[in-house]
Amino acid sequence: MSETKPIVVVTRKIPDAGLKLFGDRFTVKVSQNQRGLQPRELATFVQGASAILALLTDKIDAKILDAAGKKLKIVANYAVGYDNLDLPAVKKRKIIVTNKPAVLTEAVAEHAVALMLGVARRLVESDQFLRGGQYRGWEPELLLGPELRGKTLGILGLGRIGTRVAEIAALGLQMKIVYYDRGNRDRALEQRLGAEAVTVRKLLTSADVISLHVALTPQTKHLIGKAELESMKPAAILINTARGPIIDEKALAWALRKNVIGGAGIDVFEFEPDVTTELLKLKNIIMTPHTASATREARDAMAELAVNNIIAVLDGKAPLSPIG
Ligand code: DGY
Repeated sequence: MSETKPIVVVTRKIPDAGLKLFGDRFTVKVSQNQRGLQPRELATFVQGASAILALLTDKIDAKILDAAGKKLKIVANYAVGYDNLDLPAVKKRKIIVTNKPAVLTEAVAEHAVALMLGVARRLVESDQFLRGGQYRGWEPELLLGPELRGKTLGILGLGRIGTRVAEIAALGLQMKIVYYDRGNRDRALEQRLGAEAVTVRKLLTSADVISLHVALTPQTKHLIGKAELESMKPAAILINTARGPIIDEKALAWALRKNVIGGAGIDVFEFEPDVTTELLKLKNIIMTPHTASATREARDAMAELAVNNIIAVLDGKAPLSPIG
């Protein structure tokens, strides 16, 4: 009798760099949909799986875990953030969960810096101006923006990505760095970059650019609301490559419309994939569709790590990047 292979489900096509690592030891089911699966579709799709390779858009809760059934050993999240996973439900069922720390640090940090520069130098607006046929020749005061050198960058959340953004900004752009990380200090970084640990309040009121790098938790939901936006400098630029609900999006639209702050560079949205309509009409914001980690290098590495986590666990070994 032929031995049945463990079933691995992949909820949406990921780069082949990862998929090819499965070889032929597993029955690999890759969703063929050109979109994320709806909860009901997901529940059906995962049935009988020993491993689920999930996207950050897949809500993995008790229903999905139970739908998968008793063979399920691992959920490998194709993301560094894991607010889509119901951790207590996972723990209760003794299922291993993994994410992608480190492999997308550079990509997300570069994107945060790109947004920072793009908003400061009004790149999208300039492009639209030119394409719209409005360029009539060089002008002394056309599309002016701030220079970033010497300005203060506030990093909220000094994990891997926040640290890398601080490095690029301090060493490359010669910005002054202030940071807050749940009260933790990184004295080595302070020395290396001349960075200063400050309170959230001081960060909000003193920074010219603020970049968010905290995980989404009940405590960080709407961390940036109307009051926080009002406390920022009038020319401040707010960057979010972390998770949408960290900013109260309605308040952000208000602050940008009223010029309470100078601009924003936003990659993640409170009601993703929907975007607060008002934001679409504003010029002082650059928006990207949750593509901060979308370098070929990062997405290949994310795929490889997710697959290697699954192979390790199904082989009875320790996962490479467990959560918790
Ligand atoms: C993540 O992995 O959490 C990022 O949001 C992907 O861009």
